[in-house]
Amino acid sequence: MGIDEISPDSSLLGIYNLALLKEIMECCAHFWRYPILFLTFYLVLKPSELHALISYKPNIVILLADDLGIGDLGCYGNTTIRTPNIDRLAKEGIKLTQHIAAAPVCTPSRTAFLTGRYPVRSGMVQTIGYRVLQSLAGSGGLPPNETTFAKILKKQGYSTGLIGKWHQGMNCEYRNDYCHHPLNHGFDYFYGMPFTLMNDCQISHSSELDLPLQKKLWLYTQMVTLALLTCIAAKLTHLLPLSQKAIFFLALSDFFFFISWYSRFGFARYWECIMMRNYDIIEQPMKVERAAPLMLREAISFIERNKQGPFLLLVSFLHVHTPLVTTENFIGKSNHGLYGDNVEEMDWMVGKILDTLDKENLKNSTLTYFTSDHGGHLESWEGNIQRGGWNGIYKGGKAMGGWEGGIRVPGLFRWTGMLPEGKVIAVPTSLMDIFSTLAHLAGGTVPQDRVIDGQNLMPLLQGLVQYSGHEFMFHYCGTYLHAVRWYEKESGNVWKAHYMTPVFQPEGSGACYTIKYCPCSGEGVIHHDPPLLFHLSGDPSEAMPLSSDSEPQFYIILERINKAVEEHRKTLTPVPQQLSFYNTIWKPWLQPCCGSFPFCYCDKEKDNI
Ligand SMILES: *[C@@H]1O[C@H](CO)[C@@H](O)[C@H](O)[C@H]1NC(C)=O
Ligand SMILES: *[C@@H]1O[C@H](CO)[C@@H](O)[C@H](O)[C@H]1NC(C)=O
Ligand SMILES: *[C@@H]1O[C@H](CO)[C@@H](O)[C@H](O)[C@H]1NC(C)=O
Repeated sequence: MGIDEISPDSSLLGIYNLALLKEIMECCAHFWRYPILFLTFYLVLKPSELHALISYKPNIVILLADDLGIGDLGCYGNTTIRTPNIDRLAKEGIKLTQHIAAAPVCTPSRTAFLTGRYPVRSGMVQTIGYRVLQSLAGSGGLPPNETTFAKILKKQGYSTGLIGKWHQGMNCEYRNDYCHHPLNHGFDYFYGMPFTLMNDCQISHSSELDLPLQKKLWLYTQMVTLALLTCIAAKLTHLLPLSQKAIFFLALSDFFFFISWYSRFGFARYWECIMMRNYDIIEQPMKVERAAPLMLREAISFIERNKQGPFLLLVSFLHVHTPLVTTENFIGKSNHGLYGDNVEEMDWMVGKILDTLDKENLKNSTLTYFTSDHGGHLESWEGNIQRGGWNGIYKGGKAMGGWEGGIRVPGLFRWTGMLPEGKVIAVPTSLMDIFSTLAHLAGGTVPQDRVIDGQNLMPLLQGLVQYSGHEFMFHYCGTYLHAVRWYEKESGNVWKAHYMTPVFQPEGSGACYTIKYCPCSGEGVIHHDPPLLFHLSGDPSEAMPLSSDSEPQFYIILERINKAVEEHRKTLTPVPQQLSFYNTIWKPWLQPCCGSFPFCYCDKEKDNI
C-alpha cells in the first residue's frame, strides 16, 4: 500500500486518535517506540498501514502574501472585498486571529519565517538606516549557515520549490557565487523574483528606490555642475584667475556624481527587476504584467510534477505590493480601486492553486497555509487613492515597530481530515512557528546548536493543547525592541507593553504620512517610561493605555515583562550585520546580469507563454 492510498483520515481511527498516536510515538524514547506501538496497535492497524502512518509526510503548500492587511480578507471581517478562495481555507481549516509576524517589514519578517528565529539573531535587521535589502547587488542576505525549513524538509526527502519573491539576498563576494540564493537555502527549484516588486519595475511609475541616497547624489551632481559652470564662466571672462587643474577636478567630480547616480538609479529596472529560474536569469528587466500568469503556471506545474509527494511549495506572491501590477481581467472589478483589484486577483490565483490540489486528489494529504509577511502599508497613497492595505481594527501598519496593525496578519491552516474545520484560535502564535511545525511534520528535527523561537503548532491546531508555547513575544523595529506581548497562561489575558512607539506625522494621524515609513529610533520615536501598557485581549485596538490607577497589577505586570526582556537579551549573541551600509550598497561586481555587464538584457520567456 503506497503512501498515497493511506490518507490520514484512515477509517480505522478517528483523526484525533491518529494525532494522539503520533504524539505518543514521539514521546516514547526511540528504543521503546516500535515495541510499544506494535504491542498497542497491532490488532488495530495492519502492519502496512502502521508503516505508512509512521512514514506519512504531508505535502506542504505555503501561500505568502506581500503587504496584505488582516482587514483585507472576507474571512477576517471584510464585507466589501471578494476573497472567496482564501475564505475557503478558513472554512475548511483553522483561522488564527492572533498570528504575529516577527517584523513589520519584509526582509526581516521573511528571514524569521524561513528560519524560525527572530531576525536579530541572523543579523537581518536594520542597523544604520536600511530596513530591508536595497539591491540585488548588495552583499548582505540570509547567511549561508542559517537553516530554513526548506533545508530541513529537503533532507527529509521532500521536493522543495519556491515560486515568487525572495528578497533575502543573492551574492556575497563575486557575481554568481549565489551564497544567499534560494537554491543555497534548501530549495530544489526557484522561479521568480530574487528581489522585490517596487515602483521602479513598472515604467509608468516614479522611482521609490532608496530615495534619500538618490536625492543626495542628484543634489551633489547639480551643485558640482553649478560650481563648474561658474568657474568656467569666471575663467572665460577673466574675472578669476582659475587654474586648469581646478576646472579639471570639478569636471571629474561632476562626471563621477552623475555616473554614480545614473548607473545606479537610471537603470534600476534592469538591475533589480529580474526573473530567474534556478540560477538562470530569464527576464532582465522582467515584464511585470506577465509575472502573475507565469508564476501561476509554474506553481501548478510544480504540484503536478511532484504529486507523488512529498513536496513543499512556497508561493511567495508579488501581490499586493505596489505598484499593484494587475492583469486586465481584474482591473476595475473590485469595490476598492486598484488595491482591491490586486487583492482579488491574488485570491483568484489562490483558487487556481487549490483547484489543482483538488484535481490531483491531494487536498487531504496537503497542509495548506496562508499568511502575509506583515500588515498593510497605511502611508501608501497616490494622490488621494489608497494603494496600501487595511489592518482592520488594529492600530498602525507596515514599518511600525510594535503596533498591532503592522504585525498581526492572517493565518490560515487547512489539512482536511487531520485538522478541525472552521475553527478559530485566538491565542498568540507566530509566523516563525511554521518552521518548527514543518520540521515536526516532516519527521526532522530543528537545529540544536542555536536558539529557535518558533513553536510546533500541531498540538494547538489539533486541539490537544490550548497554548502555542509563546508566553512572550518580542516586537522589534530593526535592532530596537519596541514592544513585548505577554500571554498570561493562567488567566488567558494578553498584555502588551510598548517601550517605544513611532511619532505619527502629522500628529494624531495614526501613521507617518509625511515621511512614508515610520522610523525605528532617534527623533522619530517616543520612549515610554513606564512603558505604555495595554490589556490587548480586552482592548485589541490599543486605544486605552493602562495606568497604576486603572490596573492594580500595573507594576507587577511590567516587572514580569521586564524580566522576560532581560532573559531574552541573554540569548542574543553578536552576529555580522547583513544590512550594514557596506552590505546594502550596490556593488557592480555583484550585479546579476544576463549578458555581459553592464549590457544586461534578456527575455527567455518570450516563446513560452
Ligand atoms: C475592506 O478592504 C478594503 C481594501 O483594503 C478597505 O478599504 C475597506 O475599508 C475594508 N472594509 C472593511 C469593512 O473592513
Ligand atoms: C478527505 O477528508 C474529508 C474529511 O475527513 C473526507 O470527508 C473526504 O472523504 C476525504 N477525501 C478523500 C479523497 O479521501
Ligand atoms: C553564522 O556565522 C556567523 C559568523 O560568520 C556567526 O556569528 C553566527 O553565529 C553563525 N550562525 C549560526 C546559526 O551558526
